[in-house]
Amino acid sequence: MRAVICKEWGPPESLVVEDIPVPEPKKGQVRVAIHASSVNFPDVLIIQNKYQFKPELPFSPGSDLAGVVTAVGEGVTRFKVGDKVMGMTSWGAFAEEAIAEESRLDPLPEGVDFAIAAGFPMVYGTSYHALVDRGEVKAGQTVLVLGAAGGVGLAAVEIAKALGARVIAAASSAEKLAICKEHGADEVINYVEEDLREALKRVCPQGPDVIYDPVGGDLAEPAFRSIGWRGKFLVVGFAGGSIPKIPLNLPLLKNASIVGVFYGAYVKNEYQAYLKDMEVLFSWLREGKLKPRVSDRFTLDEAPSAIRRLADRKAAGKLIVEPQQG
Ligand SMILES: NC(=O)c1ccc[n+]([C@@H]2O[C@H](COP(=O)([O-])OP(=O)(O)OC[C@H]3O[C@@H](n4cnc5c(N)ncnc54)[C@H](OP(=O)(O)O)[C@@H]3O)[C@@H](O)[C@H]2O)c1
Repeated sequence: MRAVICKEWGPPESLVVEDIPVPEPKKGQVRVAIHASSVNFPDVLIIQNKYQFKPELPFSPGSDLAGVVTAVGEGVTRFKVGDKVMGMTSWGAFAEEAIAEESRLDPLPEGVDFAIAAGFPMVYGTSYHALVDRGEVKAGQTVLVLGAAGGVGLAAVEIAKALGARVIAAASSAEKLAICKEHGADEVINYVEEDLREALKRVCPQGPDVIYDPVGGDLAEPAFRSIGWRGKFLVVGFAGGSIPKIPLNLPLLKNASIVGVFYGAYVKNEYQAYLKDMEVLFSWLREGKLKPRVSDRFTLDEAPSAIRRLADRKAAGKLIVEPQQG
């Protein structure tokens, strides 16, 4: 089978597409013919050996997947050959076939196509866990989402809206902000053209109740300085490149909380809670409350340029790789 291979740590351009043996599922594992997978920011990091999970070389990147079961390992009870599934693996999804743990797969919901399904697990799972469990967002609260047109960002906009919050989406271009509006944002801020703190004074003088931050870098501190009384600042990621250092007088002054979000570890440590989250997310997906956005589609050979596109801030929503397409 063909697969994107990372043979040496480096940028997307150092990836190659090669034939490798079809992997065999071990106990509790399922092999899936990948009809669609999606690019997430961790794919940019993992190929440079900058992610918290560090696979041995050579390996295939890619974690979100949707496809058809082609083999099951010993002890697998929930799936059989021919079932349509979606879910996550740690890496390996940018390939014609991949192995996933049975526990990390769900049946493909009725009426959901492979591309939508592949763009769903990581970003909606992360943003739901962040906003509902860690941020305790309530109807009527105001939620500020930074990097709001990105993968986790746009999912956060939709989930915050579904929870009944007023959503302020902040991003770097008018095109991205128009997309955020289409996905439910009530207010938008272009943080390249306008100072974030000034813009927040205009649209939310009392300060947001919850801030969802997947960007970090130079945005985190000004955003946190604008947070409302008893606000919660959700630390989701550092797509901006640097990890901010926040002075500890700032949370004191607002009775505010800085709250960490680590979705992968949450799924591992609190698996039953994760299953309940997925039930809610799938019901919202079926009801049309969530409308995952496919930004662009790529063949397997084009997967490295899809990762490059994400790294260059050119995606709005999800970039989908379709290994079964020629
Ligand atoms: N905590 C967790 O469990 C968890 C789970 C999944 C992902 N994450 C993290 O969340 C972050 C976002 O992931 P994602 O898959 O949503 O990525 P994404 O689709 O690329 O979105 C990231 C957004 O960050 C903004 N950004 C600002 N500076 C950037 C830069 N120098 N390079 C790239 N983007 C920049 C971009 O928006 P603008 O151009 O509008 O600024 C972009 O849309 C990553 O750091 C990822 O590791 C964390």
